[in-house]
Amino acid sequence: KIIPVIMAGGKGTRLWPLSRAEAPKQFLQFLGDFSLFQRTLQRVSDPALYAPAIIVTNADFRFIVAEQARSVSADLAAILLEPIARNTAPALAAAAFAILRDHGDGAIMQVLASDHEIVADETYFECIRLARATAATGKLVTFGIKPTEAATGYGYIETGDSLPTGASKVSRFIEKPNQERANELIADDRYLWNSGMFMLPVSQFLGEILRYAPGVYDAAQKAMQAAEEDLDFIRLDAAAFSQAPDISVDYAVFEKTPDAAVVPSAFRWSDLGSWDSVWAVGDKDADGNVLGEKVTVNNTRNSLVLSRDIHVAVQGLQDVAVIASEDAVYIGPLADSQNVGQIVKRLAASK
Ligand code: GDD
Ligand code: MG
Repeated sequence: KIIPVIMAGGKGTRLWPLSRAEAPKQFLQFLGDFSLFQRTLQRVSDPALYAPAIIVTNADFRFIVAEQARSVSADLAAILLEPIARNTAPALAAAAFAILRDHGDGAIMQVLASDHEIVADETYFECIRLARATAATGKLVTFGIKPTEAATGYGYIETGDSLPTGASKVSRFIEKPNQERANELIADDRYLWNSGMFMLPVSQFLGEILRYAPGVYDAAQKAMQAAEEDLDFIRLDAAAFSQAPDISVDYAVFEKTPDAAVVPSAFRWSDLGSWDSVWAVGDKDADGNVLGEKVTVNNTRNSLVLSRDIHVAVQGLQDVAVIASEDAVYIGPLADSQNVGQIVKRLAASK
């Protein structure tokens, strides 16, 4: 069975003011009945395909993770707690060591981000099975999404030769190119976006971490060896884990390894990273608005209006995001959504 590893330790600052330090976006329920984290748990709930999941997150989120998992009756193997945020490479290396300990070295882990909106239909599960078969041959498998714009917030995968399983080799991986580079990549149809989800043979993955990011390997191994366990929680050792360099798995491993493969993926996928992407996937009214509860609009088009507590009314605007939480309101053009993180930085600096 596949062992799911859900990464749920990100901050999600571009979705301010609903995404906050105490409750970042993956735990919010801004569209529909469940949070993105809960919907991620639901995608790995088929016991025929999956073993119980491992959650890897920041120690600050331990209660919200446990509570949200319980309320969808998710079967968890463990909640791995990072004492300090070191990005995804150390988090995943620690999870891999935990799996190695409990399942031995033939295990395959599926890494899932918790900030994606995915339609888990038959097309999706076909990709998962193809990825599993490819990972079983020792490859580090990515899922490649057909790009729709010259986005700078994603990794880009150059598709190489076909492999016997039907997946392809990755001949090059470029994490978060600048705008100029992204414009070139999008014009070349060999390039796909990295979905941020991976299927990894655990021992090969750790081998690549050791080769390309030995500091990550050492710190994660020691943090796991000296970890404290209580109930479902595994607290990684703080002294050891804080020695890990702050680096994402994309830069640490995927830009470097020759053993990556890609499964071209046609399922519906969206990284709900910013307000324009929330608008893009939301249910629209006749005027193209995506509206939350407690919202009234008049003569307003192609806008996103969400409010948590107070009633919000918008009139005579188009292409805007109006987002109200209990103590802050954000208003801006949807086209500027990528820059909301800059506001959060300013706010932090002015405190
Ligand atoms: N446990 C843990 N610890 N999780 C983390 C941490 C951390 O320190 N930092 C981020 N995460 C989680 C986030 O919550 C998210 O679910 C996932 O890891 C990915 O992190 P992001 O910060 O959202 O990454 P990204 O969106 O900038 O880039 C990645 O995803 C893109 C697609 O969405 C990369 O893999 C890109 O190559 C990819 O295109
Ligand atoms: Mg993301």
